[in-house]
Amino acid sequence: MRYLTAALTKGRLARQTMNLMEKIGISCEEMRDPDTRKLIFVNEEYGLKFFLAKGPDVPTYVEYGAADLGVVGEDTIMEEGRKIYEVLDLGFGKCRMCVAGPEDAARLLNGQEQIRVATKYPKIARDYFNDTKNQTVEIIKLNGSIELAPIVGLAEVIVDIVETGSTLRENGLKVLEEVCPLSARVVVNPVSMRMENERITKLLSEMNAALHGS
Ligand code: PRP
Repeated sequence: MRYLTAALTKGRLARQTMNLMEKIGISCEEMRDPDTRKLIFVNEEYGLKFFLAKGPDVPTYVEYGAADLGVVGEDTIMEEGRKIYEVLDLGFGKCRMCVAGPEDAARLLNGQEQIRVATKYPKIARDYFNDTKNQTVEIIKLNGSIELAPIVGLAEVIVDIVETGSTLRENGLKVLEEVCPLSARVVVNPVSMRMENERITKLLSEMNAALHGS
């Protein structure tokens, strides 16, 4: 039997996905070892292979079929715009995509001002300002610690994910507008969905049952 391959987003999402997998009897012990340098983990019993990847790379592996399925944040799915199926809302990894900045930047979001927007999500930010707000802005792509941008004067506002809100709070920033709510999703390669339909459907329904405690 061919292995089904799953790409998991490194970090918190992978840990929560492993908890879910263990609930349906798929052991992830080896993958949890903090000292391991191994990249691929095999579960012989289920014919599954797992690997950990950076979030934005997960949809890429799945689109090209290098992974049959993946677990990734909806923010990354929206940003990457890959040809993949989004098949299950895992309900964890919940957060919000927001426009944030100092409180007095709220007046710059009236649709008229030419402002700079710093973000790790240029596509989401561009779509939001162009299509929803009809406001012409300059998007500045950053790779992390986005909250710095308005503090040091790189941009007036940021578009970023907010989970607990503590990063904003500790840096004197506020949510100014909400773009959309987000959570972790299972994505599937369209060809795998056809060729391995039975196994993928079974795995998804087991995950779904474990999520909802039935
Ligand atoms: C994310 C995000 C915010 C923070 C939000 O950053 O970009 O900075 O988490 O979480 P909070 O609302 O619970 O404070 P992440 O930790 O992924 O790292 P990064 O800054 O390097 O992007």
